[in-house]
Amino acid sequence: MQLRNRNRHRSPQLMQVLRTGWIPLLLLIFITGCHRDMYDQPKYEPLEASTFFEDGRSARKPVDNTVAVDEVLYDEYFMTGMRDGAVGTEIPIPVTEETLARGQEVYNINCVPCHGLAGYGNGMVWRRGGVPPANFHSDRLRTTPVGHFYDVITNGYRYMYPYAHKIAPEDRWAIIAYIRALQLSQHATLDAVPADMQQELQSQPSEATPMPEGQDMSGATPMPEGQDTPEATPENQQGAEQ
Ligand code: HEC
Repeated sequence: MQLRNRNRHRSPQLMQVLRTGWIPLLLLIFITGCHRDMYDQPKYEPLEASTFFEDGRSARKPVDNTVAVDEVLYDEYFMTGMRDGAVGTEIPIPVTEETLARGQEVYNINCVPCHGLAGYGNGMVWRRGGVPPANFHSDRLRTTPVGHFYDVITNGYRYMYPYAHKIAPEDRWAIIAYIRALQLSQHATLDAVPADMQQELQSQPSEATPMPEGQDMSGATPMPEGQDTPEATPENQQGAEQ
């Protein structure tokens, strides 16, 4: 009773402030009461120096082979081996010893089962039957532009299935460089060898050293000149007909 009486004596302005005053008060508590840990957390401003990293930079370089989303990577020749619809003749990566070593590695993994270690088309798969793989030492394939090889690896060729999903473009070119080296290795003349080594070669017996028993997988048996595919044997002939 007494309380109510006292209130009655308060001015209407004061009552107004009391009635609405809790809103800014609440806001004040919210704003000042919040922790600012996230805002004030230890962090680097853009390009700020760092004592943590050896090079003193807080901005780190992207890891190797990072691809920016908007980077234009597509080089038509590199990706297709074609230029204006025609197969190209140059290998668009530097052909170094490293490239050839890589080419050999990827070739040995992917192509040897059919085309053989030396590329004569007499790999193990074919020996078991089926369609004869191409012999890379045929006159035709020795002079076929590299772009065609790239196209065959990428898209397949008649009975040969494509390898685009398995072999990266750079590795496809490395394989081609290696196939070119294989081709040269089987058709090199003495003039291609440095002069000081020519004598050494000439002094060696001309007969090839026979393979140890059971090692005829080397694929070193030369195909008759101009022949595209290996000789058919009764066994694989049977396979091919199935
Ligand atoms: C599973 C067996 C198989 C594998 C593995 C294989 N090939 Fe072939 N390849 C073939 C066959 C079979 C042909 C012949 C296709 C035809 O003429 O119908 C052929 C043909 C080719 C040709 C000749 C195309 C032409 O113009 O005559 C090239 C070049 C070639 N392969 C490259 C490769 C390379 C490089 C690899 C490894 C990346 C590879 N092949 C792996 C089976 C294979």
